[in-house]
Amino acid sequence: MIRLSYDVKNYRRDLLELVGRDDTVIELGCHVGGTTKMISPKCNVVAVDNSPEAVDSMKSVEDVKFISGDVRRHEVLASVFKITQSCDVLAIDLGGGYHPDTVFKVFYIWSSTFKPKHTVIRNRGLLEFVSSASLSDEDCLTDEGYLESYHDSGIPPLIKEFELWTPELKK
Ligand SMILES: C[S@@+](CC[C@H](N)C(=O)[O-])C[C@H]1O[C@@H](n2cnc3c(N)ncnc32)[C@H](O)[C@@H]1O
Repeated sequence: MIRLSYDVKNYRRDLLELVGRDDTVIELGCHVGGTTKMISPKCNVVAVDNSPEAVDSMKSVEDVKFISGDVRRHEVLASVFKITQSCDVLAIDLGGGYHPDTVFKVFYIWSSTFKPKHTVIRNRGLLEFVSSASLSDEDCLTDEGYLESYHDSGIPPLIKEFELWTPELKK
């Protein structure tokens, strides 16, 4: 299942509903752990954020593996892959107003790598797009937390497009 929201209350409600006991959750954009603390008592969380505030705050969140890094970078995905090769739930909140194209790319790369049962995304632009698009009746639905059309594409070797799109990622 893929759930999409903008209001952080809905994002948290969706996660609390979908995360099961002892599930593995990868949380992208944990900030200071507001949502992490709500879900971590019942599951195993690997949380990632690139903000300096997250570093100190996440130290105090018990039983959570925190990685300080940019989720657009391949080596950050590779560090999480060393910890876990799959997850039950992928949570993505890079900020509700974050560019939707980047959020979608992050969803595609991370979900096709970890093949979650469920993905929960917080992003206004994606919600607006999906809510506003009128869909054809072709059979293009997934019950999983990733796009089934990419099921066999394996782990993306490099996030090449990000280097092209985002100058700050260029070395
Ligand atoms: C709205 S906050 C997340 C709030 C959190 N999910 C919660 O429920 O309390 C968005 C977070 O995404 C992080 N973020 C944005 N872009 C990122 C990126 N490319 N890599 C890692 N973290 C990123 C920001 O540093 C920020 O902490």
